[in-house]
Amino acid sequence: MKLLVIGGGGREHALAWQLARSPRVQTVYVAPGNGGTDRASQIQNVALTDTADLIAFARKEKIAFTVVGPEAPLAAGIVDAFQAEGLKIFGPSREAAQLESSKDYAKAFMVRHGIPTAAYETFTDPAAAHQYIDAQGAPIVIKADGLAAGKGVVVATTLEEAHNAVDDMLGGGFGEAGARVVIEECLEGEEASFIVMCDGSNVLPLATSQDHKRLLDGDNGPNTGGMGAYSPAPIISPALHNRIMREVIHPTMAGMARDGLPYSGFLYAGLMIGPGPDATRSLRVLEFNCRMGDPETQPIVMRIKSDFSKTLEMAIDGRLDEAEAEIEWDRRPALGVVIAAANYPGTPRTGDPITRLAPDTEECVTFHAGTQLEDDVLKTSGGRVLCVTALGDSLKRAQAAAYDAVARTRFDGLQYRRDIGWRALPQEPAADNKTGKP
Ligand code: AMP
Ligand code: GLY
Repeated sequence: MKLLVIGGGGREHALAWQLARSPRVQTVYVAPGNGGTDRASQIQNVALTDTADLIAFARKEKIAFTVVGPEAPLAAGIVDAFQAEGLKIFGPSREAAQLESSKDYAKAFMVRHGIPTAAYETFTDPAAAHQYIDAQGAPIVIKADGLAAGKGVVVATTLEEAHNAVDDMLGGGFGEAGARVVIEECLEGEEASFIVMCDGSNVLPLATSQDHKRLLDGDNGPNTGGMGAYSPAPIISPALHNRIMREVIHPTMAGMARDGLPYSGFLYAGLMIGPGPDATRSLRVLEFNCRMGDPETQPIVMRIKSDFSKTLEMAIDGRLDEAEAEIEWDRRPALGVVIAAANYPGTPRTGDPITRLAPDTEECVTFHAGTQLEDDVLKTSGGRVLCVTALGDSLKRAQAAAYDAVARTRFDGLQYRRDIGWRALPQEPAADNKTGKP
């Protein structure tokens, strides 16, 4: 069969790589793809982004089903358009994708259905927003309502930062996405990404994961799309897993159905987990995404041992209840390190030739994101360039293997964090840990 993956980042390279391993799959097309998918065997880039063109392509090539990677096409209604033409596609409808595309919609949804989340209010009037901030005090979190490519959230530690963020967003700095702002209580704890697949009524939880959102070691510096990730997330014990399904995932599915929008597709709950024993620690949803995470997808899909095309097909056909018995996970942890371009996350420098890459093996793969082939020369073309992802018998071994391959990667201006996974690794004895983190 032939499959189509929509998107061009590291997440889509990883999905296409996993799907291409299936003996049932002849070709995975990626639209538009990147330099990594361009070079892979059994994967082919398609230079299309327009929905009507993609529909025509899917028809012509007799694509068995399509998987959507990023949020923008979902929010634009690509699933509705494919389904209206009788084409199989995995993802939520435009209306259901509002769980991600409008923070205000997601917050009101959570309150309506009793799903735990930070206290909040929504504003369009700057004066009222400023007044609310003064009344609440800092720290406080300001979020642009609409999609802002991961840049629409300011965790303000001072009132001045909070007021500036409101002026920036409501002042037009984020376009339509910032016409409304959600201002919410600042939560403390540890974050985890809980991603499930849904078919409108059944749910299949994928392996757990955590990403590192900050640019610099020790989780410092500005927020980014994610500088690395690992799976599983040790913080998600079996007891906590059950609580998340019971308190977050099932109520979300039931709430969407009750609202007349039964949810199909990947659903990513970004969670903040407070301290304390698992039975009582606070568990709150920071955000919903209607897609898999990037870079969480890279370590997650490396751990899938069964044929993922079958799982996706079951999800599209509403048979996800059969998938739990069928999907098989590698028990080994996986860890991915993002290599970013100079100046990321500001305005990244692009066009640098990538002069060296570690060869891919069964246990270590370099997934591409911001790369493109120009006359057979691989060059950087975006902020997050690569995600080097490795499996290991322990998280520490996965980390060592990934960093070994990172050290063999070369392009001018590359930057990466040296400590991906640190929260999940057992504390080293002081004598072995003179330099702090790994
Ligand atoms: P979001 O896109 O809503 O997940 O926000 C991006 C990041 O901002 C999250 O991953 C958190 O690190 C941080 N964040 C968002 N909301 C809050 C909150 N209420 N309290 C503390 N940190 C938050
Ligand atoms: N890594 C966070 C995200 O994909 O939203």
